[in-house]
Amino acid sequence: MSRQPTLSGIRACVFDAYGTLFDVHSAVERHRNRVGDQADAVSGLWRRKQLEYAWLRSLMHSHADFATVTEQALDHALGAYGIGDGELRRDLLDAYRALDCYPEVPGTLRALRSLGLPTALLSNGSPDMLADAVNSAGLGDLLDAVISIEDVGIYKPAPEAYRLAVDRLGVPASAILFHSSNGWDVAGAACFGFRVAWINRGNVPADVLPGDAELVLPGLAEVPRLLGAESA
Ligand code: LAC
Repeated sequence: MSRQPTLSGIRACVFDAYGTLFDVHSAVERHRNRVGDQADAVSGLWRRKQLEYAWLRSLMHSHADFATVTEQALDHALGAYGIGDGELRRDLLDAYRALDCYPEVPGTLRALRSLGLPTALLSNGSPDMLADAVNSAGLGDLLDAVISIEDVGIYKPAPEAYRLAVDRLGVPASAILFHSSNGWDVAGAACFGFRVAWINRGNVPADVLPGDAELVLPGLAEVPRLLGAESA
């Protein structure tokens, strides 16, 4: 990976939650033996349907919160693979409330705050889901704001969703560095006017969408240095 340029003019750091701070596949991973040989396929379909249902509901003007969308996506995925175990379903949903956070997340948030930069989550997640995820990962003291799109009732990548961070933090979009592992979220955030870091955890090809990331990184660990922290 070529050395990334350092960034100036950033006054706040905002993060997507699922896929960026939290590992969405850690729920199925925890119950891999019970889900069976198709565990990776079930987890992939669960995530895909969760996102599709969110986007479709926003286009249909038929909003339901992310907790509901996540349950309905799981029901589709379990049904597709012929899994009818109600206790497993409950355990998977409980696990989704306490996903693993990626190992570099706490240190990165701590380093950004030591630079005096406010840190916030901006997520499709419902407030209760995000509270559970943040608390179970012990990140509560490292985030200045946890923002759910429920405040506007439309999912990212709608611009109204991104505007929540500008209004809550009182920082213009051009001074916010938004971080996401999701290509669609990177596109939406860049089109809205954020400066964007694509955290390409899966080393996947870029989507062909409007809106470009300013940074492409394999994880979050480098971000504080790129924003001015002394190299460790
Ligand atoms: C989030 C995921 C859905 O908004 O990208 O946290």
